[in-house]
Amino acid sequence: MGPGRRRSLPLLLLLLPLLSLPTAWGDCGPLPNISHAEPPESAKHQGSFSVGSKVTFRCLRGYIKRPLLSDTVQCLANSQWSNLLEFCGRSCPSPPRVHFATISQDEMQNFYPVNATVKYICRPGYANTTDQLPTSTCLDDLAWSEVPQLCQRKSCGIPPNPEHGKIIANDHLFGAKADVVCNRG
Ligand SMILES: *[C@@H]1O[C@H](CO)[C@@H](O)[C@H](O)[C@H]1NC(C)=O
Ligand SMILES: *[C@@H]1O[C@H](CO)[C@@H](O)[C@H](O)[C@H]1NC(C)=O
Ligand SMILES: *[C@@H]1O[C@H](CO)[C@@H](O)[C@H](O)[C@H]1NC(C)=O
Repeated sequence: MGPGRRRSLPLLLLLLPLLSLPTAWGDCGPLPNISHAEPPESAKHQGSFSVGSKVTFRCLRGYIKRPLLSDTVQCLANSQWSNLLEFCGRSCPSPPRVHFATISQDEMQNFYPVNATVKYICRPGYANTTDQLPTSTCLDDLAWSEVPQLCQRKSCGIPPNPEHGKIIANDHLFGAKADVVCNRG
């Protein structure tokens, strides 16, 4: 072992900080920019991530995660971030609830791009009076169009007057109540 080898150890210690600069091997650099999405506050300004790190993004206001697309990037073994498809799309919130109809079961989802239309079916006690059922459309300003009231309360028929009494009712449609009043005596 010559004196030269002893001297090379301090030199290596001197170089060590240079080798661990932000772009060190086995690390990914800052997070990629993802359209209409942001990373958690804690990861936003972080310059380096170790291999295997996973970061989940969140859609910006007015955007909602598309079903079936991933929202998480991962730092891969080659020090590159995995790619994400543009998973945040402009979407209306949940469609409006109305007292006379419910959203048709097969329309249940949570991503409604502009021009998406949902169909409604009349609630029990209500019936469509034409062959049209109510629909609502996600408009350009991400609000839903008004749901037309195409379902009307069903009729129970006019209640028959009892013997020695009469019926007092405003109407005879679903939800109505009728009072029965006995004749004097
Ligand atoms: C991401 O966007 C910021 C601000 O718009 C920009 O400064 C930065 O260079 C972008 N990074 C990448 C990797 O495109
Ligand atoms: C929505 O429909 C209208 C009318 O058909 C069309 O002009 C518009 O480009 C559509 N918007 C989107 C985002 O598809
Ligand atoms: C109500 O709508 C359904 C489905 O569109 C239709 O089959 C039915 O004939 C409609 N009822 C009336 C009274 O038009």
